[in-house]
Amino acid sequence: MAAGGARRARRLLVPALALLLLLQSARPAKALENGLALTPPMGWLHWERFLCQTDCSQDPRRCISEKLFMQMADLMVSEGWRDVGYQYLCIDDCWMAPTRDMQGRLQPDPKRFPSGMAKLADYVHSKGLKLGIYADVGNKTCAGFPGSYGYYELDAETFASWGVDLLKFDGCHSDTVDLLVGGYKTMSRALNKTGRSIVYSCEWPLYQKSLQKPNYTEIKQYCNYWRNFDDIYDAWSSVRNTLDWTSLHQDNLTSIAGPGGWNDPDMLVIGNFGLSWDQQITQMALWAMMAAPLLMSNDLRHISPASKALLQNKEVIAINQDPLGKQGYRITKDHNGFELWERPLSGGAYAIAIVNRQEIGGPQAYRFFLAFLGNGLACNPACSIQQILPTSRNLGLHNWISFLKVFVNPTGTILLKTVLIEEKHSLGIL
Ligand code: GLA
Repeated sequence: MAAGGARRARRLLVPALALLLLLQSARPAKALENGLALTPPMGWLHWERFLCQTDCSQDPRRCISEKLFMQMADLMVSEGWRDVGYQYLCIDDCWMAPTRDMQGRLQPDPKRFPSGMAKLADYVHSKGLKLGIYADVGNKTCAGFPGSYGYYELDAETFASWGVDLLKFDGCHSDTVDLLVGGYKTMSRALNKTGRSIVYSCEWPLYQKSLQKPNYTEIKQYCNYWRNFDDIYDAWSSVRNTLDWTSLHQDNLTSIAGPGGWNDPDMLVIGNFGLSWDQQITQMALWAMMAAPLLMSNDLRHISPASKALLQNKEVIAINQDPLGKQGYRITKDHNGFELWERPLSGGAYAIAIVNRQEIGGPQAYRFFLAFLGNGLACNPACSIQQILPTSRNLGLHNWISFLKVFVNPTGTILLKTVLIEEKHSLGIL
């Protein structure tokens, strides 16, 4: 098309697309006002990799103990994790003693955490990190340890007195909606009342789903992030199902996410056993697209240099942490199994992910029209495109009516970033 024709077409299309954009961007929901999680929290969480080994004589290197967390804290600093943003070191289930103490307080297992939680928190803080802990809204945790039901205020005070910075609050053994919803709200207020800054991670919508439709506007007023879907496993099928569930419900999910409140598709399992290299790239790219909390569950003592570099990739982390805080969404899925996702970033930039969901054959070509991106605005009139994953490279300048062709490995992803070029600077390209 001649430059004049392109400009005329653009003049007609742009107002229509801008209206569409306006209709799509519902008023942001009110977030929990604790001033925390203005970007998705980043850190490490023990569950997927270490589960519930409580017998340290059996497996001293992998049991849930203060030693494990101190080792991870050391590595988070010495191996550069903290410096790229992984800040929260989080304990999951199975840290507790089987009963509360004489005053009714939760206590850590004395054999596995002999120094106590306040000491562990001090250690973690001395490294410039923050400590996360786990409890449950019902009368037992999922693994059968004491639950917080009936003790919400006391438990919040206990965690604050230890110097805890994040609480993952699970939803096992909450059989009624009243208990579940009431419990999550009460704990949120109780944490607030302690006066300590404690990020509040909820599994409220996941457990509510089997009882009734979760009210996300309400959830966002009480939680900093929340799990919607099944526990993640170290397997492609699990990552795939999480992505499918998220894109199926993306209209509800993306309208609610933003600074202070995030959808949590669960832990990053990169660096473990189950994902191929391309699948690890897909998890990292799509968790960045989804503005997901980046909580790794892996063994930082044994991680390949490639997985480490992927998890520490600053360009991908910058997309995840983009201050605009808009969650990305899938814009198309074609009959060949290709998915095209986009995420609006600050300054008119967009992150674009092309996922090849085929599990047969080799790398396949995917060709797409840049005018489709960002409701027609991402490359309008022109943009520069940077490939970020699998490798970083500059794809040059493009105008809004051009096509881009990429090759994507089976189950892999190409992650790109478009940066808008203003009309006055784009004359040479149009
Ligand atoms: C549930 C949660 C998991 C983990 C386990 C611990 O299944 O969804 O993330 O916390 O409980 O028992």
